[in-house]
Amino acid sequence: MIKKELLDMICEQINFEYESAFIYRKLAIDLELEGWIGFAHWFTAQYEEEVEHAEAMIHYVLERGEQPVLKDIKMSDIKSESIVGYFEIAHEHECLVSDKIDEIVTKAIEVKDYATENFFRKFVDEQVEEEATTAGILDHLKLVTGNAGYMIIDRELGARK
Ligand SMILES: [Fe+2]
Ligand SMILES: [Fe+2]
Repeated sequence: MIKKELLDMICEQINFEYESAFIYRKLAIDLELEGWIGFAHWFTAQYEEEVEHAEAMIHYVLERGEQPVLKDIKMSDIKSESIVGYFEIAHEHECLVSDKIDEIVTKAIEVKDYATENFFRKFVDEQVEEEATTAGILDHLKLVTGNAGYMIIDRELGARK
């Protein structure tokens, strides 16, 4: 059994993972329309990862014998005018996700739900990686100037598995 307050936070997070997926998918579509196939591929892979996170959380809640409640997914009208801007959105978003995951872990400890604490610690690690990856891409983008430089990074990110 998961305490109500904690369960609500987990359900919020499931919803937020889908919202994140939507944001990444939207940005991938915009990038593909602009001809940045590699960047679009990277954002599509992010989208798939966020859906996987939501799925893992749903599975966890079900395993604990609780009901994952799905809600409307907010579609924000998010867009960027520059390549750096796309990755700034991604980086800021991942930092926001990290805060939310931390809040869940804090709550789990508070109510002594160590199974939930354990489960969400995987996402604490995951977020360290997500923040580092997006920050790293931003560093690279800021090192190059103009489309010729972006094209090299676009090709690189297009190779993401
Ligand atoms: Fe996620
Ligand atoms: Fe993420």
